Amino acid sequence: MNTASYLERRNKIEAYFDRTALDAWKRLTSTEKVSGIRATVRAGRAEMRNAILSRFPADLAGWRILDAGCGGGGLALELASRGADVLGIDLSAQMIEHACAALPEIAGPGSLRLEAGDMLSASHGEFDAVVAMDSLIHYKPDQAREAIASLAERTRRKMVFTLAPRTRLLMLMHTAGQFFPRSDRSPAIEPVNGRQLVSSVASRKGLDCWTQQSSQRVARGFYISELQEMTRS
Ligand SMILES: C[S@@+](CC[C@H](N)C(=O)[O-])C[C@H]1O[C@@H](n2cnc3c(N)ncnc32)[C@H](O)[C@@H]1O
Repeated sequence: MNTASYLERRNKIEAYFDRTALDAWKRLTSTEKVSGIRATVRAGRAEMRNAILSRFPADLAGWRILDAGCGGGGLALELASRGADVLGIDLSAQMIEHACAALPEIAGPGSLRLEAGDMLSASHGEFDAVVAMDSLIHYKPDQAREAIASLAERTRRKMVFTLAPRTRLLMLMHTAGQFFPRSDRSPAIEPVNGRQLVSSVASRKGLDCWTQQSSQRVARGFYISELQEMTRS
């Protein structure tokens, strides 16, 4: 996807995660003590990571998996530990450098490669599965829909990703975000109706081999996110 609006949004997200929020993300994804709101976010993220992992078999030998927007690579590492060959892609070159230095060895037979780049690039090839934890939440609903559709075309078995649900709190934060000066805020979180969005992808010509599975919401303090799963027959 190379529309001007996608590239503009992608550049903002890259600047935010590669520079503005890099240290905060490193702390959040470390074992360092954090307090208050950050602790609830960390707990919510751990719950969501487990929810995503629960959608996969314990033995992933023979699976090639893309962790789209892998950040610090924690989820990618878990999937590789189950035997998958995992490619983690993230826009933030600095986050990838940090992940490569900080992640422990894989405790299993799989492999893990982490690279800086665009998760939507067709050059990454085909996959058995794609995971995308909280990497689509800053895109407009149309952009997230096109991203999911383009990944579905190159995926053989399963996609598990999260979107920001349209809860009152998130809608309020979204609205409040419009009033901060541009330089002070992160790229806005874009709440969407996840079930509707997935169903619109799965009903497209050529993608009707995809079936929408049950969704799961995680809400812990300031962490609110909803898992969506699609499987291919
Ligand atoms: C909220 S963080 C989540 C990181 C990781 N998935 C996790 O849960 O720890 C979102 C990540 O998605 C990445 N991202 C967003 N759009 C991307 C794109 N088009 N290609 C690659 N990475 C992207 C950002 O750089 C950022 O690191």
